[in-house]
Amino acid sequence: MNYSIREVLDTDYDSLLELWKTTHGIGIDEYSDSLESIQRFLTRNPGMSFLAVLEDGKIIASVLSGHDGRRGFIYHLLVQEKYRRFGIAAAMLEKVYKKFEENFIPKANIFVMKVNQSGIGFWTHEGWKSRNNLEIMQREFKPMGSKGNCEC
Ligand SMILES: CC(C)(COP(=O)(O)OP(=O)(O)OC[C@H]1O[C@@H](n2cnc3c(N)ncnc32)[C@H](O)[C@@H]1OP(=O)(O)O)[C@@H](O)C(=O)NCCC(=O)NCCS
Repeated sequence: MNYSIREVLDTDYDSLLELWKTTHGIGIDEYSDSLESIQRFLTRNPGMSFLAVLEDGKIIASVLSGHDGRRGFIYHLLVQEKYRRFGIAAAMLEKVYKKFEENFIPKANIFVMKVNQSGIGFWTHEGWKSRNNLEIMQREFKPMGSKGNCEC
């Protein structure tokens, strides 16, 4: 199979949202996955998010990554079902890991839904470890200016 990996551009948003919405295991949020939020994420983390495309331009995989100066984060790693187990996720992650290293980031965190045992199996296989002594906690804020516009 011929595919290539390139950086995510703002203009990929509609295709990516469709992919995220239709892939089991990917959680999307009306505000955080709006065009505005994704553009902001890409601007804050230039060149750190990737996708895989076939020769005809069809997007078959994605990964968003970024960092806050201290820790790295990875979101929305997916490969369309029929293209799985060809090493595409691993190839995209290689690029992400290189970006972390170039940006002096020693550790990264991911959020995986507990019901996504297959996803957890993948990350474990890739060398990631659960931090059983940590609890993920969250609270909400009222972002100024926008209520989000993602139809998800
Ligand atoms: C998880 C996912 C991205 C893996 O994509 P992929 O392209 O099939 O993965 P790769 O082919 O690059 O696999 C790399 C290695 O992981 C292994 N692997 C792949 N999926 C695995 C799984 N579910 N459990 C355990 N190992 C797995 C492969 O066998 C390969 O091993 P090897 O290096 O020893 O040959 C894909 O299954 C997917 O899109 N899942 C749905 C979305 C999801 O759950 N995303 C992650 C949660 S945030």
